[in-house]
Amino acid sequence: MAANSILVRDIPNDLKTWISERCSERRVSQQEFVLDLLEGAHRGSSQPSLFDNIQPPAQRTGGGIPFSFIDLFSGIGGLRLGVEAAGGRCVFSSEWDTYCQKTYYAWFGEVPHGDITKIRPAEIPDHDLLVAGFPCQPFSIAGVSKKNALGRPHGFKDAAQGNLFFNVSTILENKRPPAFLLENVKNLQSHDGGRTWQVIRSVLEDLGYRIFTKVIDAAAWVPQHRERVFIVGFDVRVFGENPPFVFPSEPDSPRPRFRDILEESPDSKYTLSTHLWTYLKDYAQRHKEKGNGFGFGMADFDGVSRTLSARYYKDGSEVLIPQKRRNPRRLTPREAARLMGFPDRLPIVVSDTQAYKQFGNAVVPPVAEAVARQLADVLGWQLLAMRGGCLLKTPVVTSRAGEKGKVKGRSNRALAGV
Ligand SMILES: C[S@@+](CC[C@H](N)C(=O)[O-])C[C@H]1O[C@@H](n2cnc3c(N)ncnc32)[C@H](O)[C@@H]1O
Repeated sequence: MAANSILVRDIPNDLKTWISERCSERRVSQQEFVLDLLEGAHRGSSQPSLFDNIQPPAQRTGGGIPFSFIDLFSGIGGLRLGVEAAGGRCVFSSEWDTYCQKTYYAWFGEVPHGDITKIRPAEIPDHDLLVAGFPCQPFSIAGVSKKNALGRPHGFKDAAQGNLFFNVSTILENKRPPAFLLENVKNLQSHDGGRTWQVIRSVLEDLGYRIFTKVIDAAAWVPQHRERVFIVGFDVRVFGENPPFVFPSEPDSPRPRFRDILEESPDSKYTLSTHLWTYLKDYAQRHKEKGNGFGFGMADFDGVSRTLSARYYKDGSEVLIPQKRRNPRRLTPREAARLMGFPDRLPIVVSDTQAYKQFGNAVVPPVAEAVARQLADVLGWQLLAMRGGCLLKTPVVTSRAGEKGKVKGRSNRALAGV
């Protein structure tokens, strides 16, 4: 036997049938197919896929098919909670803020990897779904106006933050997960006259993903007006041009009311001092006189609150709670958690300031779950349609303009079936 050959005898009939079916499906020779399998196994036999990822039922948190995902810019894991509830198993996370890492460890038992810009795609395990709530500051109205006022660039011109989207696209290009779920502020689509969104959209499409986007208001799930854009993508070579994805509709249950999230006896330290309350009233009055609507937001017990922001710790002005015979109070950290849809079983392990920042930056887990369930359905249907096929994940396209769909290398030709 030549040194570069191997001989395998007595291959069971069902395995032979499976190999020949896959070969004709992908229009490759047996040698190419088996080599592909061996290369995949060699790259990392522990790499997860929709097939080898099945956890014991006791550990599975959600329904639907099991799938693996990575959680980038994880914050405290709002998206993670939702994706896990839809059947996902997290195989990698990244978050550089040490206080967020502390909360994440308390909740999920793992410390996320740090700065994503320092992590090479090769260090990230293969996964079925890439999840990323990339930082919204360069695209948000607050971030933009502050940066304009300071004469600083914003969006993609902000070298430090705007480029983080390109870290996501580089990981997509190199790891080729079959699907992704991204989240950002609503303003992402209108920033810089729509040009920022055009760039993001074309980068994702040039990578060979069919994308779906929707602005969803969390007010149908939690008593808070919070509009965020969700971007879901499917690899066209795995799912075709028209994957049957639809965004979730609002739950049938009655809308939650603000009063439902309140604690019975909040500490008096959350009541505003007369000094701060007077300042907030004067500030609101000055802005009213100038004809703009900036000011504090007094919550309606039977309605929904304004959007909780990461700066809530400063004065709590966007969500104030009226009190009888006392100045209004701010939310307690537990109430902030509930307003975001985080369950009480998750302990708050950081200071009030950090907790407000963390919740104000987070994704509402029940909304993430609703989107992830729809996404997991598509993964499940695809799995059935492939009748035992495999959602292979290898680099297949280049993302440079004009090279859409270009495939590289023998094993990639095999994957693309060309
Ligand atoms: C909008 S928050 C993410 C919310 C989160 N995905 C969730 O599901 O609740 C963005 C996060 O990205 C983190 N971040 C920003 N730059 C980063 C970097 N270079 N590496 C890792 N994390 C980063 C921030 O610390 C922040 O927690």
